[in-house]
Amino acid sequence: MPSIIVASGNGASALPAGIRILARGGSALDAVEACAKIIEADPSDTSVGRGGKPNVLGVVELDASIMDGTTHRTGAVAALAGFLHPISVARAVMDRTPHVFLVGEGASRFAREIGATRTQNLTPSTRKLWVERLRKAGETPSSVRRRAKLLPVVRKTVKEERGTVNFLAVDRHGDVASAVTTSGWAYKYPGRVGDSPIIGAGNYSDSRYGAAACTGYGELAIRSVTAKTAVDRLASGMPIDVAARAAIEDANALEDAAFNIVVLSADGAHASATNRQGRRYVWMTATMSEPATALRAWVPQARRGSRSSRATVRAGSLR
Ligand code: GLY
Repeated sequence: MPSIIVASGNGASALPAGIRILARGGSALDAVEACAKIIEADPSDTSVGRGGKPNVLGVVELDASIMDGTTHRTGAVAALAGFLHPISVARAVMDRTPHVFLVGEGASRFAREIGATRTQNLTPSTRKLWVERLRKAGETPSSVRRRAKLLPVVRKTVKEERGTVNFLAVDRHGDVASAVTTSGWAYKYPGRVGDSPIIGAGNYSDSRYGAAACTGYGELAIRSVTAKTAVDRLASGMPIDVAARAAIEDANALEDAAFNIVVLSADGAHASATNRQGRRYVWMTATMSEPATALRAWVPQARRGSRSSRATVRAGSLR
């Protein structure tokens, strides 16, 4: 079985490390975790881990999940603050607890209990961006912290900024795994959780068929259970590129918001689709010296309320 890792475009720099794990016979699960950790520690990615954009109160709340496609064991954390590697805390939830998902203070408590590395994820540059966004909303760090009602502020601070990184892998034993990690929607309401830690929405793996993972407006992936639906479509025999495009059609039928998917089949084929033109994804196999990049298939949003938009809803519900 040829080993491969597929990722959202911002995962490219991590792929060589993941491929080294697979090339020496390591597991897909270890490879996707190792890749996710590299991006989490990179402060230049403002959508993930350290350097990720904070919530409206200036706290970087991180979401992450990981899934083993052979055993269907999963682990996830959400709204975790103050730790460098949410993906490894998610892995520990999977490996060391009888649970699959810990959130907020419970997730922090567990991270402390297992000795997870602590860090201040708000960097000087992301603090500056946060202060500037507050200024545009007529607020300051101290004024927003005093507010009894945050929703009116959040309506002004959130824009289309919901980066995430995801990794899907098949190892030489044919095991499939997926991992997703993110700081979520920039300047969000505290406690907002997106699709990334929700198994079936933000990612899903089944070693019999493949894996899928989403980036973009996580609320849409939750509403359509997008990653599981994509893997179900592979299981039904749908060609992988059609399954990727169908996921975007489902999202487009709900709202006009940026949305992307990567899909990997158990035999190593891959595809990706998006509703924003020019977006890329990346992959690497054990025989490649560097990651390859390709444009995601573009599935544009139909005009809201148009006949084709309504037809998409109907067609999507049949797939
Ligand atoms: N897809 C990442 C998020 O919505 O949080």
